[in-house]
Amino acid sequence: MSQTTQSWGSRIGLILAMAGNAVGLGNFLRFPVQAVQNGGGAFIIPYLVSFLLMGIPLLWVEWSMGRYGGKFGSHSTPFILDSMSKKRWWKYIGVFAIFTNLGIISYYTYIESWTLTYTIKSLSGAFSGIGREEVAGMFDTYVGINGTLTDDILGINLPVWAIVAFLATLCLNIYILSKGLSGGIEKVAKIAMPMLLVFGVFLAIRAITLGDTNIDGCDTCNTHAGLDFLWNPQFDSLSNPKVWLAAAGQIFFTLSVGMGTIQCYAAYLKPKEDIALNAMTAGWTNAFVEIVLGASIVIPISVGYMGLDWVMENAGFMMAFKTMPYLFNQWQPFIAALSGLAWFGLLFIAGITSSLAMGTPWMGFVEDEFGWKRNKSAIILGLIVLVMALPPIVFYEYGVFDEYDYWTGTVALVVFALAEVILFAWVFGMDKGWKEITGGADIKVPLFYRFIIKWVTPFFILIIFISSLIKPMDGNMSDWAVAFSQLFSEGSWPWANDSIIAQIFHLNEDLKWFAADGPTAMFFKDLSRFVLVATFVGLAIMVKIASNRRKRKLTTPKILEE
Ligand code: ALA
Repeated sequence: MSQTTQSWGSRIGLILAMAGNAVGLGNFLRFPVQAVQNGGGAFIIPYLVSFLLMGIPLLWVEWSMGRYGGKFGSHSTPFILDSMSKKRWWKYIGVFAIFTNLGIISYYTYIESWTLTYTIKSLSGAFSGIGREEVAGMFDTYVGINGTLTDDILGINLPVWAIVAFLATLCLNIYILSKGLSGGIEKVAKIAMPMLLVFGVFLAIRAITLGDTNIDGCDTCNTHAGLDFLWNPQFDSLSNPKVWLAAAGQIFFTLSVGMGTIQCYAAYLKPKEDIALNAMTAGWTNAFVEIVLGASIVIPISVGYMGLDWVMENAGFMMAFKTMPYLFNQWQPFIAALSGLAWFGLLFIAGITSSLAMGTPWMGFVEDEFGWKRNKSAIILGLIVLVMALPPIVFYEYGVFDEYDYWTGTVALVVFALAEVILFAWVFGMDKGWKEITGGADIKVPLFYRFIIKWVTPFFILIIFISSLIKPMDGNMSDWAVAFSQLFSEGSWPWANDSIIAQIFHLNEDLKWFAADGPTAMFFKDLSRFVLVATFVGLAIMVKIASNRRKRKLTTPKILEE
């Protein structure tokens, strides 16, 4: 239990930090790609419904859990959850929301470091005059894909410059975290978020005003075709479970719900400080940045030069690095450099304000429970992240990166969100819960949200979880029908490769760890799973030790003075 004196410096600082937590790489890279892969405008309605029925309720739940836990001096989920129930095992569920952050931060900071390098490369003119293949090749060389590793030390190929940039990015994160909430995170958010908006608006205007690029033989090479594709809602998607799963997954990631960062930030609120309006402001800011700015940059500009068909076939996370610098090259050198700066600078800012948030649950936990000083907490966090990040960096080619993203950035968020909303609405109870949400509120929270939080949100997340657990091949409505008929006629289930069950048991995969030429991708995937499980177990042990210390130290929790 903490004797912390930390708090937010100002309301605007808090909102900007919370918005910075949510606005991240997910808004500019993940959202547009998910939208394209799920039918463009077809994605928008399930996305908005998931936002209203799951995202907003979870925001209120997490903000109130955080402020509630903060009254007892707890700033991370294990003991926030512990303070909400008499059952002592809830604190181990809380481990998820420190674990998730350590997992995500490890690969997220790595991507952040690419954006830093690419900002510098754009400014130095490294992309000017070179072709698309070459730009894509530069990226492969940089991260060491397909045997294009940049150096070979003791027989291990290491992408040396990518590691140097990663270390620099990690050190910057650790330095800011060591400065605390108001002296570090809040200060950064106050400068970074307005800059992000300026960069984003600049690029969006550029994309919207570009229009037809008059490329021979390409009818759809028009940025407006890209915007139309993303913006024209299509109602037929409403019956497609695959699109719903993707939309709900995006809501989790983009709002940073189910992660534990919101609870941690909110734990530093004063007991009567507003939650309802603050949470809405941060949530809608994220939605605006995602739907308006996120949808107006990478896809429209790519469609403008490559055409809609090309984008639909090739849309992927890596377009940001492998294609965008080439597209900026189509503009005058000054505008190209400025756009490179705006694009990669924007990604860097979006990334760092989120990765800082991911560091705070760990910081809050060790400061509260073990009395560590901020510098020590931050440095040890840096060392843990360094160790955890090595597998995705060094074995990037073997799918380790995706493995981290799958378990920590996808599955764990849903599991934890389901658990916390059950705790909040059913164990803590909606009477107390509603009081927490509305206490000190600067807006009137619509009463029907009481019903939504109790019934709709848990049910919604449960369906998402079960569907992800047993998802059949491809996951469209017709695939579910085929799967059930196969179950009844043949007693088997056509597992999708990305269903949780198929992933756990490596179904549809070759189970060999070693081949004639050395370890297989399976070996590296399992190695990364070992790292993740060890991290979870290590954190659970720390929670147990902390709990024993608490028992020794106090008998009844003392509510901090307002
Ligand atoms: N919410 C953060 C993002 O969108 C994690 O990137």
